[in-house]
Amino acid sequence: MDTSRVEQSSLKICLKQRDPQTRKRNEGGVFYTPDSISDILSQWTVRAKLDLVLEPSFGGCGFIQSLRKRFTRLGSAQPAESIFGCDIDARAFTHLARVSENKPIPAHFIKGDFLQLSLRDFGVREFDAVVGNPPYVSYHNMFGEQRKATAQLRSLGEFQLRKTSSLWAYFVLHSFKFLKVGGRTAWVLPGSLLNSDYGKELLHGISPQFQRVVVISLAQRLFISEGTEESSEILLCEGWRRGPAKHGVEVRSAATVKQCKTLVSSWHSNKWRGASLNGRAMFTLLPHRSLSEYYELLKHGAITRLGNIVKVLIGIVTGANAFFVVDRQILKQMDIRFDQVSLILSKFRFAPGLILKTSDLLDAYENEERCLLVNRSSLERAASVVKKYFETFPKALIEENATFAKRSIWHCPDDGKIPDGFFPYMNHIGPRLVLNSAAVNSTNTVHRLYFKPSTTISEKKIAAISMLTTFSQLSAEIEGRTYGAGVLKHEPSEAMNIRLMIPANIPIRELNQAAKAIDRLLRMRKLDEARHKADTLIFGAEFLAENQKLFVGLSRDLRAARKRRY
Ligand SMILES: C[S@@+](CC[C@H](N)C(=O)[O-])C[C@H]1O[C@@H](n2cnc3c(N)ncnc32)[C@H](O)[C@@H]1O
Repeated sequence: MDTSRVEQSSLKICLKQRDPQTRKRNEGGVFYTPDSISDILSQWTVRAKLDLVLEPSFGGCGFIQSLRKRFTRLGSAQPAESIFGCDIDARAFTHLARVSENKPIPAHFIKGDFLQLSLRDFGVREFDAVVGNPPYVSYHNMFGEQRKATAQLRSLGEFQLRKTSSLWAYFVLHSFKFLKVGGRTAWVLPGSLLNSDYGKELLHGISPQFQRVVVISLAQRLFISEGTEESSEILLCEGWRRGPAKHGVEVRSAATVKQCKTLVSSWHSNKWRGASLNGRAMFTLLPHRSLSEYYELLKHGAITRLGNIVKVLIGIVTGANAFFVVDRQILKQMDIRFDQVSLILSKFRFAPGLILKTSDLLDAYENEERCLLVNRSSLERAASVVKKYFETFPKALIEENATFAKRSIWHCPDDGKIPDGFFPYMNHIGPRLVLNSAAVNSTNTVHRLYFKPSTTISEKKIAAISMLTTFSQLSAEIEGRTYGAGVLKHEPSEAMNIRLMIPANIPIRELNQAAKAIDRLLRMRKLDEARHKADTLIFGAEFLAENQKLFVGLSRDLRAARKRRY
């Protein structure tokens, strides 16, 4: 057998896990802030020429330069005297050495871990302001030292933060210890500030301490040139220890940096106020903030949570999808027959309709897509060749792999729990509930759905169609989270919170005809037509006609919510 591609597969896994460059980039969470934004934030945070300001992770020195400009404009002859900083990375100090005008004072800058520093280290009594853009490192990607430092901070009990919070959250909370009473702080933070539970808990935790807490949610992507579409939230906190903030946490969206500048510069005139954060962030971010039509429909007796009719679980965790999920070519190279492996839904796009048919996966197979699972059962069906394939997996990685360690047999990822349907973990357009007539399993890139055992096929079809209505699509936008690049993501618990209309009296013939037509429309990518057809079936033509204004409102909010993701 020709094993070249097989070996490449295994090699890819090794490289992904071992490549220091990739690891370093991911772990560093380093994105330098563009001047346009550091200028706006520096102008806002610094109020007087004798203020002292700290940038706790100054990196490329963008904020240092903006602060210098701000102090000069305020009439300071020695801006460098006011500016202090810290960074763990030697490259930041190379950048610092290159700053030409008003050279920073070296003693003001510490090379080290900010989380382990205190005011004493800077030789300063207190700072008037803290400003910056901290490292974006998820708990999952933190290395040993970072985990240790964050655990130590948590153990002090000075603030409440979930263990699984990202590094940026610790930076923000730790920085408050450097602020004087009445001080200001401004940060460029990732989308998880509003999208994650720990981000929202942090905001609600700090609003009693400050006079005003505002998040400006920026639709424009700041870090495209840095190779990421991460979205940005600008956090502005005024009046440390002068809380509570009268309006709680205020959220305001800005389409562009220019709009953000207008908002920040009109701060003093008190001309605007953001929507109070309460529950899902999406409620505060749509232009038509009330979402009144959505709330009106929520009162309808036939509306239920998806979780009331179906259980959503993640797909099987193989621990190495690139190895276990193969395509036709690899099969050929391994001398394994098609009937010795299993079809698997490894990408949601292989299920283009309302119902997943075996032919959908066979199409994926013909198109050289990875949709075949090599599992222990394959070993039983074709012992020698499959054994040879499993032997190509590097032994050292078998021992290192945390997922394999949880299984009694490392090469047996399939749990055999065939779901009734599927739901995307991430999607661009809007999620679909796809019924599983192919009787296959899915990998963890696709969620699995299990209806209550008593659910009839008609009820399953109604649920799948109902998910496509304008109402449920908007609900999915509200319950999901977005991290930039237009992706809408649902963890199983978030998917189960999506609201559906489940009407009781749809005649079976009408239901089956609609299901067929909608399946066809979806496959032709006529998504709006499929949505309108779903609205008509689920709400009834009469209800739609009587409540035209309501559906116009829902469609407007759905369009706005989707637009916000891009
Ligand atoms: C997202 S970058 C931002 C850099 C700069 N603040 C800006 O806005 O351009 C994050 C910076 O945090 C630094 N950093 C990472 N971990 C750190 C730590 N524990 N203490 C201090 N700085 C750290 C990185 O070296 C990097 O320069």
